[in-house]
Order: sequence, then C-alpha cells, then structure tokens
Amino acid sequence: MKDVQKIPDSSELRPAPTKSAGGRRILIGVAGGIAAYKACHLIRDFKERGDDVRVVPTEAALNFVGAATFEALSGNPVSTTVFDAVDEVQHVSLGQQADAVVIAPATADLIARLACGRADDLLCASVLVATCPVIIAPAMHTEMWLNPATQDNVATLRRRGITVMEPAHGRLTGTDTGAGRLPDPEQIAEFARTIIAGHRVDHNWQGRKVVISAGGTQENLDPVRYLGNRSSGRQGFALAEIAAQRGADVTIVAGNTEALPIPSGASVVRVTSTRDMQEAMNREAADADIIIMAAAVADYRPASVADSKMKKGAADDDLASLELVENPDILKGLVQRRENGEIKREAIIVGFAAETGDETTSVLEYAQQKFKKKGCDVLMANEVGEGKVFGQATSAGWILRRSSDPVVVAPGSKQVVAAQILDVVNEMLEK
Ligand code: CTP
Repeated sequence: MKDVQKIPDSSELRPAPTKSAGGRRILIGVAGGIAAYKACHLIRDFKERGDDVRVVPTEAALNFVGAATFEALSGNPVSTTVFDAVDEVQHVSLGQQADAVVIAPATADLIARLACGRADDLLCASVLVATCPVIIAPAMHTEMWLNPATQDNVATLRRRGITVMEPAHGRLTGTDTGAGRLPDPEQIAEFARTIIAGHRVDHNWQGRKVVISAGGTQENLDPVRYLGNRSSGRQGFALAEIAAQRGADVTIVAGNTEALPIPSGASVVRVTSTRDMQEAMNREAADADIIIMAAAVADYRPASVADSKMKKGAADDDLASLELVENPDILKGLVQRRENGEIKREAIIVGFAAETGDETTSVLEYAQQKFKKKGCDVLMANEVGEGKVFGQATSAGWILRRSSDPVVVAPGSKQVVAAQILDVVNEMLEK
C-alpha cells in the first residue's frame, strides 16, 4: 500500500467539526415578513447544537412574532433599537462579538437598508459592525425580488462579501407562487454552517447549467420487488444546493432518495432504473457545463421482469437464483459522449467512488484505479460500509483530479463536502 495521508476513521464521522459544531455566538436577524415565524425554527436549530443565539428583530418583525417568543427560544434578551442597553454599547458589541450573523427572513426593505449601509436600528448597526460571516436569506414576493432595485442591492451586498442565499420557489403569502419563498430553516442553518466552517460559496455560476444524479437506482424483479441499495441521495442534493446557491441553473436526476427538500432554485427529474437514469442524464447533460454522477447506480438488473408476483417454491423458482445482466455505465458513457461532441467539450464531469477497500488494496488505491477507468475530470472517493456515508448526514474521503495530489476531505456535513468538491470544479472553470 502506498504511503497516503490517512483520513480519520470514518466510523467516527460526526457533523462538521470545529466552527460548525456549536459553541459559537450566532446573531440571528429577523425582518418584518410573514416568514418571521420560521426564524423560530432557525433559533432552535442553532441552540440545539450548543450555539449562543442572540436574536435581533426589526421593529416590523415584532408585528409577526413577539419579543417574548424570541427571548424564550434564545434564552437571551431581545431589542430592536440602538437605545436599549446603551451602557453595554450594544449597537457595537453585538456585531463585534458575533461569530456569524444569519438574517432570516430578510425583506426587500432590510436588504435596501443594508446595501445603503444604514445604522438606524440595532440589526443594521450590528451588520455594519460585524466582520464575521454574514448570511442573508431573503423572503418576499417575486416582483419585489426580481425588481432591479432589489437585484442591484443584492449584487452590492454580495460584492461586499455578504452571502445572500437564493430564495426558494413556491407558494408565497397570497395565492401566488414564484421565487421569493424563504428556504426551509434546516436548509438555511446547514448552509450557514457551511459558510461558518470557512467554505466560500461565491455567486459566480450564473448562466451555467449543472446536472447532478442523486440517490439509488432500482431494478424491478416483479410488481412488488426490486433490487436496490442504501443510498439516501443526500450528497447529490447537497451538491445541488451549493451549486444553486452559486447561482447555477441546476437539474437533479433523482433515483430513489429520502424525502429530501428540493434545494432552492433546483428542478428534479425523477427516475427509477439505471437505464431511465442514463436516458435522463444524457438528455440533460447535452447543454450542461458541469455534470456530476453522485448516484449509487445499480450495476446489474434482472434479465427479465415478471409480470406477476414471483412465487417462492414454484417449479421454476427464479427467486432462488436470479439471472442478472449488466447495466450500462452512465458515467463512462457521458465521458464518451463528450468525446463524440454530444456534450459540450469544455463540460466538467465529476464522478464518485464508493469503496470499502480490502486486505490488499486501500480505499484510495481502488478509487485511483476507478478514476483512470472512468475518464472523468474529478472523482470524490468515499469509504462506504455499515454506518459509513450511505444514508448518513456526514461524509469524508479524497477529491482526485488529474495531475494533482488527492485533496483530503475531513469528516463534515454533506453540504461542507459538496462545497469543497464544487470549489475544485470552480478552480477548473476559472483556468
Ligand atoms: N456509475 C455509473 N453507472 C454505473 C455504475 C456507476 O455512472 N452503472 C457511476 C457512479 O455514479 C459513480 C461512479 O460511476 O459516479 C462509480 O460508482 P461505483 O459504484 O463506486 O463504482 P462502479 O463503477 O459501480 O464499480 P464497482 O461497483 O465495481 O466498484
């Protein structure tokens, strides 16, 4: 076995270590929109991880949720104005002491005030003082979000290094639907933790199409049974989430996945079998700039699918020994299609390797062999097995790319791992 850098034992995978593991001072800003009630879940989420939460609502936010609720949930006093706790110089100290500021929901008005650098209430003053990461989750009606005034203000904030999330699409306050919904609080919290852990998610992929396969494929045996695997689809969805937050147009080709929320700004094509997934990937990848095969694809399928339920003990008991045929290799096929010009020649193709290693060959060695065989540009190598990676919230491993050393990915949430993979892709795009 070659002398390679060892990753920590992945049986001990925990949510991302250090900065995202709690014990931080998180300032949660809440602006006056109907989604203010969702901030309560966000406060809970950070509190449950052991963070010290200070809630700073705007005056308008208190029309939707009372200060008592925010105080009870955060365990800290709540004020909106710079004239409270003047002896503690609160309008400066809160922002100075925060390890991160997370504002959810942020209304068009708050975003405008922040872009102007106003300091006319405690929240704006705190943001003006803060040198820590600031993450903003906007929520407003589609027209307000798309208004050039708001878009200019958002661009201004992003240019200054503030992370402004893409809002979700969906039902808004009235009967209308569209862009402008607040993402789920868990999504905001997980995304914020990725930024807090030191990973940049720049909004620089506008106009780029990203296609990502996720989850496991299933191969039918008969109307009630199938061959499948333990993949949850979480890594593919996390990649979609980060790619969408980078501003890309994202399509997820999803096999069997857990009931995962669809990331803001991504669309989903549902498939069942490997051949369905191949068809969808080939179609969607045709005009894509980044193609990622994160799915756990079934390598074999039954030679025939029974029309009615197969009976055990029947004279021709096919269940006792199944005849299988090999499925196409979607990833290899995509690389081939790029060579043939059916996919953009400059498209970047990313694969995964799920390996257990054995007595003779390590996980990384198997992954390096697979990287050569598949011909993709980047490969994320994971050690899999009982309780490792599949179905878990965390992952670890190595990112392989040609003519560079493997990048060690320390145990972290699948969003943190996704941010690292997409950082490597971003570097390649910028070359
Ligand atoms: N993959 C694919 N089509 C297949 C099998 C795998 O596109 N029929 C892709 C996976 O999505 C992943 C990569 O190939 O990006 C490696 O998948 P993995 O399951 O690790 O390896 P296999 O190619 O199936 O090889 P083996 O099971 O023998 O390790």
